[in-house]
Amino acid sequence: MSSIVCLESLEAMKAFLDRQANERVALVPTMGSLHQGHLALVEEAKKRAAVVIVSIFVNPLQFGPHEDFKNYPRDLEKDLHSLERYGPLSVFAPSVAEMYPNGPSRTVITLPSMTNTMCGLGRPGHFDGVATVVAKLFNIIRPHFAFFGKKDAQQLAIIRQLTRDLNFPVEIVGVPTVREPSGLAMSSRNQYLTAQEKDQAAFLYQALLAGKKLFERGERHAGSLIAEAFKILEAHGIEPEYVSLVDADTLASVDTIADSPVILALAARLGRARLIDNVVMESL
Ligand code: PAF
Repeated sequence: MSSIVCLESLEAMKAFLDRQANERVALVPTMGSLHQGHLALVEEAKKRAAVVIVSIFVNPLQFGPHEDFKNYPRDLEKDLHSLERYGPLSVFAPSVAEMYPNGPSRTVITLPSMTNTMCGLGRPGHFDGVATVVAKLFNIIRPHFAFFGKKDAQQLAIIRQLTRDLNFPVEIVGVPTVREPSGLAMSSRNQYLTAQEKDQAAFLYQALLAGKKLFERGERHAGSLIAEAFKILEAHGIEPEYVSLVDADTLASVDTIADSPVILALAARLGRARLIDNVVMESL
């Protein structure tokens, strides 16, 4: 018998949660197409809570009209199979109609100062969609812990902020990025890359590391660190959408690094894939 329970309706989810009333519940929100990065979230979740719920929902609200919602990779059977060895756990895989029974949500959660920057500039409305669905998942599942990858640094900062602002009783846990041996951050969208693009994509992380190395040698000016990253990207034919240095919590742009942690983050399109990555830098 499979140790994975797959629940597709809010009603089934509620009945399941009612039976776990005294347990600690951990939520791993995903859009499926699970890879090692997601499985690292599941592993962390298993350490913290007796009940682990992986949500698999490709959220239409966070895709722009010209983005890949329709073609986003979906394979529930394969996802359930890759979760098998982490059982027992539950998967919440609602349909769009189950999550948005009256059409697109009329309530939208927005954090303008954190969404109108970095990826938010090229993907207007994206983080409102993420914030709104995550708030819905928190209310449906009422987890004690929720796990998100640090690769999506902007998403993580936004979710931490909305959790504080709206008093969700959940601890947000950020999990380190899982990388391919080349350094390329794992992402469901990596499957859009050709072999050649995949080799090229490894230089995204190299560019960030070059900036970080300069920081470790004492450079504190954003302009110099960003220029260093640009040099590597240019040398490998990559034209980034942005390279930014921002405060890790507020996402405010930083000119000169002081004591609070910052992230050097970038996005770039390679062929059909839009890829993101970041490194954290902190003065000791
Ligand atoms: O990171 C993701 O996969 C999604 O943005 C999330 C957090 C599951 C919300 O749909």
